[in-house]
Amino acid sequence: MPMQTVRTDPIEGQKPGTSGLRKKTAVFKRPHFLENYVQSIFDGIGGVGGRTLVVGGDGRYFNDDAIQIILRMAAANGAARCIVGRGGIMSTPAVSHLIRLRQAHGGLILSASHNPGGPEADFGLKYNGPNGGPATEAVTDKIYQRTQQITIYRITASGGVDIDTLGLHDHQGMEVEIVDPVADYVALMERLFDFDKIAALFAGGFTMRFDAMHAVTGPYARAILEERLGAAEGTVVNGVPSADFGGGHPDPNPIWAKGLMDVMYGAEALDFGAASDGDGDRNMIVGKGCYVTPSDSLALLTAKAHLAPAYKGGLAGVARSMPTSRAVDHVAEKLGIGCFETPTGWKFFGNLLDAGKVTLCGEESAGTGSDHVREKDGLWAVLLWLNILAESQKSVADLLADLWAEHGRCYYSRHDYEDVEAEKAYAMMDGLRAKLPSLAGSEAGKLSVEMADEFAYHDPVDGSHSAGQGIRVAFTNGARAVFRLSGTGTEGATIRLYLEQMETDPDKLAMQPEEALADIREAAMQLSDLTAMTGREAPDVIT
Ligand code: G1P
Ligand code: ZN
Repeated sequence: MPMQTVRTDPIEGQKPGTSGLRKKTAVFKRPHFLENYVQSIFDGIGGVGGRTLVVGGDGRYFNDDAIQIILRMAAANGAARCIVGRGGIMSTPAVSHLIRLRQAHGGLILSASHNPGGPEADFGLKYNGPNGGPATEAVTDKIYQRTQQITIYRITASGGVDIDTLGLHDHQGMEVEIVDPVADYVALMERLFDFDKIAALFAGGFTMRFDAMHAVTGPYARAILEERLGAAEGTVVNGVPSADFGGGHPDPNPIWAKGLMDVMYGAEALDFGAASDGDGDRNMIVGKGCYVTPSDSLALLTAKAHLAPAYKGGLAGVARSMPTSRAVDHVAEKLGIGCFETPTGWKFFGNLLDAGKVTLCGEESAGTGSDHVREKDGLWAVLLWLNILAESQKSVADLLADLWAEHGRCYYSRHDYEDVEAEKAYAMMDGLRAKLPSLAGSEAGKLSVEMADEFAYHDPVDGSHSAGQGIRVAFTNGARAVFRLSGTGTEGATIRLYLEQMETDPDKLAMQPEEALADIREAAMQLSDLTAMTGREAPDVIT
């Protein structure tokens, strides 16, 4: 086989403990950069000789070229087969499903998730393992070690691969199977949900808008919502994946999906609105004049999942990331099922799902999922909501009101301070950390601290230990503040401050979140000294 072994130097690889690598596109395009990372992945997972990999991306700028490089390297490293979405397109949950369905050794996903795409924006690559989920800590650490030591990579000497024609192709001894990226995923959704019930809902005049944000879920949402479930044509907007996501941030939250919010809060509001992110794993849910926080969405789906066929036998348990609000904890307690608190990042859910300890899991950052794959899944969440709406015949607002009346309302907000000078952000966290032992019993603003610690996680399945996962401060009135530094930002440091306040007084369930969270915000600012330490008065993004 005509093959090259290229001499190379170590790269500034992925941070240990993070899944995948996200960088400016220009960095990925530097000579040998992508190649070094791909070879590090192959080496880190013990080689790809004779193995099958799934490859797909969210269609952002550089997707096509990167896939060609990956295929040529897989062939040169002796892989038996690569299964590739037509045109190089495949959503993250669809890759996860295909790895499992085809019992592949793993998959490579080309995406920087909800970060913008384009020559000046971001690109990313991550490896998912044989269970379909993000690589474990042990594997990401091995990959990272390789990025620091790498001296050669292997690539076929020439030739591109046709990734636009369905079927089996040969690339210098490796099989390249081009598949419809949507078909298997649609079949899976059809098994989980009552499509007839949801179709009847649409046939009865139920209206919805799905904003695909010019990202990967457009083709999936069209196939399922419009073609299969009979939603009106035009239900899916921004449905054609574009290399720069139409110039926007493909991040489904009220800020970046403002157009959808305007519709849902306007005079012509529809019954249901939803959006998904760059690679299709995140979701936003909004009813008529009624935004649903991801934390409340997880709580509601936990309370009502039994209305969908796949979950009618009940849930084994649920898991939420630590900064996600504790709304779901109350639901789980009433249901008498286990509720796990894990560090931020989907990979921590994998073991719990594999071990059958949990069925649903979610994060405040708009990720919700179940044991049907090993990734969060945006469209899945939308379909579970639709199934619940169809079965209950209630509106989103009514379902939420019922949830809050029964379990209390957990007011919640996340404040992001972006591109903070890294040293200042670390200094702020260090300052807070130093105070932790003396915080319990002290006063902050109008509140008193009940308990404060730095979150560490013992994985109940593999016994691994993850320390330094964010600072939690709980107050005596049921409020909580969490501080952590983002692990996914590509510029400076991002400080995330998560605020929540549990409210059970029936007269206080309809406040504005800012009002309900004013005291806890003041207490958090005072405890952390954030403004003095970083020079920031106000957050850049509030979700
Ligand atoms: C963010 C989210 C986190 C999510 C991750 C990957 O990470 O907060 O919940 O799992 O993106 O989508 P962070 O930047 O906070 O480290
Ligand atoms: Zn994503």
